[in-house]
Amino acid sequence: MIRKLIRETNISINNIIYPLFVVEGKNIKHEVKSMPGIYRLSIDNVLKELEKIQDLGIPGVILFGTPDNKDEMASGAYNNKGIVQKTIKIAKKNFPEIILIADTCLCAYTTHGHCGIIKNCKIENDISVDILVKSALSFADAGADIIAPSDMMDGRVLKIRNALDEKGFLDTIIMSYSIKYSSSFYSPFREALDSAPVFGDRKTYQMDICNKYEALKEAELDINEGADIIMVKPALAYLDIINFLKDHFCVPIAAYNVSGEYSMVKAAAKSGYIDEKSAIFEILTAIKRAGADIIITYFAIQFASMIKNNEYSWD
Ligand code: PBG
Repeated sequence: MIRKLIRETNISINNIIYPLFVVEGKNIKHEVKSMPGIYRLSIDNVLKELEKIQDLGIPGVILFGTPDNKDEMASGAYNNKGIVQKTIKIAKKNFPEIILIADTCLCAYTTHGHCGIIKNCKIENDISVDILVKSALSFADAGADIIAPSDMMDGRVLKIRNALDEKGFLDTIIMSYSIKYSSSFYSPFREALDSAPVFGDRKTYQMDICNKYEALKEAELDINEGADIIMVKPALAYLDIINFLKDHFCVPIAAYNVSGEYSMVKAAAKSGYIDEKSAIFEILTAIKRAGADIIITYFAIQFASMIKNNEYSWD
C-alpha cells in the first residue's frame, strides 16, 4: 500500500492507442508473420476488433491501410472509397466514441514503397506534400478525429492545417510524427503493410539516429506549423528524446512503441528468455516515466486485458 501511495508513475489504459492494419476483402484475418498476435484485417473483422477495444476501454486506434492497387503517384492515399476512408466511415458510425487516428503517408500507396513521390530518383518534397494534404482531407471528410502525418516531408503540417481549416475541419487534430528516426525497428511493420522501399532507404527524410538536438528543431517546426501533438518514434531506444522534448515543450507527446520493439519481446518470451507480462508493464511504464502522454503500442489489447482480468499487478 505504501509503495502504491508514493508511486511516481502509473500507467493507465486511458493513454494507450492500438494500431490496426486494414485490407480489402471479407472475413480476412491474416497474422503478420513477424508480429505474432497482430493481424491484417478486412473491415468486417476490424469492426469486431473495435467492439473488443471498446469493451476493454482502449480510447483509440491508429489505422493503416494496404490498398489492392498501388501506383507511382499514390492516388489510393486520397481515394474517397479507399480502404482507410471506408473503414473510418463505418467505424465512426458504429463506434462514435472510439478515437480514430489516420496515419497519413504515401509508402503504402506507392509502387516503390517510399513515403513521397519520386522524380528522377529523388523524393519530390512539395509534390508529395500536395498529395498528403489531399489524403488528410479525405480522412477528415470520412470522419477521422486525428490526422497523423508520418512521411517526414518538410512543411506538411502547415499545409495540412491550412487545408483542414479552410474546409471547416477546425476541430480535427494533427498528431505529427515529428521525430521519426531512420530505425531498424520498423521492419516487421513494413511486412505488415507491404511498404518496404524497393530501392534505397529512408535516410534522406527520416532522422539520423545519432542526433538529439535536431529533434528539438523538428519538434519546434511542427509545433509552429500547427501540430497539436508531437510524436517520437521509435520509443524504447529513444526514451532520452521523449524526456528531452517533455522538458522543452508543453504540447502533449506521443511515443510509438514500434513493431520491432513488439516482436523482440514476443520472440524472447516465446523462447522463455523473459517473462512477457512483466516486460510489457515495464516497457510501457518506462515510456510513460520518460514523459510520453500517449503510447501507441501493439500490446494495447494484451495490456488492457491483463488489467481488466487482474492478471498482473506490480506489487
Ligand atoms: C509509415 C509508417 C511506418 C511506421 C509507422 N508509419 C514505417 C516506416 O516509416 O518505415 C512504423 C511503425 C512500426 O514499426 O510499428 N511511414
